[in-house]
Amino acid sequence: MLNRYVETSATAAVHSLDHFALEVPELSVARAFYEAFGLDVKKQQDSLALHAFGGDHRWGQLFPGEKKRLRHLCFGAYEQDMAAIERQLEAAGVALLAAPEGEPGKSLWFHDPDNNLIQIRAAAKVTPDAKASSVMPAAGVGTRGAPNRQDTAKVRPNRLSHVLIFVTDVERSIRFFEDTLGLRLSDRSRDIVAFMHAPYGADHHTLAFVKSGGGGFHHCSWDVSSLDDVGLGAMQMAAAGWSRGWGVGRHVLGSNYFYYVRDPWGSYSEYSFDIDFIPATLDWVANNHLPEDSLYLWGPDVPEDFASNYEVD
Ligand SMILES: [Fe+2]
Repeated sequence: MLNRYVETSATAAVHSLDHFALEVPELSVARAFYEAFGLDVKKQQDSLALHAFGGDHRWGQLFPGEKKRLRHLCFGAYEQDMAAIERQLEAAGVALLAAPEGEPGKSLWFHDPDNNLIQIRAAAKVTPDAKASSVMPAAGVGTRGAPNRQDTAKVRPNRLSHVLIFVTDVERSIRFFEDTLGLRLSDRSRDIVAFMHAPYGADHHTLAFVKSGGGGFHHCSWDVSSLDDVGLGAMQMAAAGWSRGWGVGRHVLGSNYFYYVRDPWGSYSEYSFDIDFIPATLDWVANNHLPEDSLYLWGPDVPEDFASNYEVD
């Protein structure tokens, strides 16, 4: 893939995916699932908050609802970019909405073309500024490389990497998120999937789309520190009773090693290791890839209902 350096764009942009919020039917089941996944689940007034262990940032929020659905996605921007982002929304003809009840602070709220609720607020950058160094050490000659199973620690993700949402028109969503949030296209496969990144240094995808019959939430993806953690995460979830999923495998687009565990509502949480990183100084040249590259480089067969959107199906 070719990369080239260019001057930064004049378009104002968000810098991070700050958090996602879902409505789910049973918070107790949600707590059990995400605790088994390795997250620090904290009770809030009427919701649960998802944290990585040892981190203050709230990456996810779960509210009680009749069925699982995407409540909103929140993106963080620098304070000095908020006015320009608001002008970009106006120029795109986007109607600003009142904040949902109980949501504090000054934010921009609006719907994307598929009625997915989006929030933008001034916030600290939580997307990393550099790629974490990979941890795939080779065992020295004459030494054991693998630990005993009893010596492995519980897998605990480091941070949220990205969210993939359902959209009805991939091309339209690419344009919408370019024009409003200033996201940039990383890669796509025709009108099947697309991957976009925030331009201040971010993973290969901050937000991704898969074509569906309506809006909704497909998966949240969590960075872990090693390929072993991806495999051990799958084992950890199976041992806790969450044995349905997809992986272990490796993506072509983003290059990350993955395991997706199916959550109690038919969407997914992904353990992700070694996703490509796009620094702020680089203008990544987006390519339109063959459909065979849209899902994986290697791994088991894709589950038949992997891209089912139970929010509309
Ligand atoms: Fe992913």
